[in-house]
Amino acid sequence: MKPDLPKAYFTEADSADVVTGQNVNAKDARLREVMDAITRHLHAAIKEIEPTQEEWMTGIQFLTRTGHMSDDWRQEFILLSDVLGVSMLVDAINSRRPVGASENTVLGPFHIGGTPEYEMGTNICLDGKGEDMVVRGRVLDIDGKPLSGVKIDVWQANDEGFYDVQQKGIQPDFNLRGVFRTGEDGSYWFKAVRPQHYSIPADGPVGALLENLGRHPYRPAHLHYIISKEGYDEVTTHIFDPDDIYIDNDAVFGVKESLIAEFVKVDDASRVAEMGFEGPHYWDVEFDFVLAPKGR
Ligand code: BEZ
Ligand code: FE
Repeated sequence: MKPDLPKAYFTEADSADVVTGQNVNAKDARLREVMDAITRHLHAAIKEIEPTQEEWMTGIQFLTRTGHMSDDWRQEFILLSDVLGVSMLVDAINSRRPVGASENTVLGPFHIGGTPEYEMGTNICLDGKGEDMVVRGRVLDIDGKPLSGVKIDVWQANDEGFYDVQQKGIQPDFNLRGVFRTGEDGSYWFKAVRPQHYSIPADGPVGALLENLGRHPYRPAHLHYIISKEGYDEVTTHIFDPDDIYIDNDAVFGVKESLIAEFVKVDDASRVAEMGFEGPHYWDVEFDFVLAPKGR
């Protein structure tokens, strides 16, 4: 039987219409909308670029290498989406919140389940390596009321810029990870070590692309958080070190102004001792989070 589709003779001028015209019988309207838009924009880009056959093949080979590099642990396509700013854009579209609510940023590949829940004030640095740090603050609603029982899931790289899962057998399992729950006054605090900037995985095609574009693969020092409470919009975010050399050009565009914290050096011996640190100093980081009600 002859297909029930419009005629599709190709011309350079009408290329996108010719292709999208074949999607009229799509079984899923959203799929058709997505593929029509991608086809239109892709054809427009190709018309602007006018690639040679060799250049087009270079692109195909890049995507092939990206696929070959990917497995359950290493997701090179997500990394590509990250360095193109697409992960941040998709996240922004899906986490629009009222003014004043804490903003989202990328989740990243290093979150794991099963992190132990600790008493407030616990030191999540399990190997004692790095410069001591205290992180504290409150979780509030958008009217400024403290929120109790908020789950704070935090993870960070160590002072050499590696997560525990990247250094199995070198760092203890669950090093620099913890789950905390806010008390009646909405407050939280824990001890850790000052994180360092690090390179995103740069030994694959995405790393080579950054190199060829004259871009670096570094993320400024940060702590990751997932902050959740029933009835409120879950916040997946970071707080950033403003003094990091990469603060102004994160390789994955994760920095938002509202997420920049302050790392204050405390070298007063009595305060250092009061915190139970050996000194000569620790870093004090105070940061409040604001949750918006679900659906606002
Ligand atoms: C991270 O912050 O853990 C991360 C985010 C995107 C790509 C790689 C790492
Ligand atoms: Fe990270």
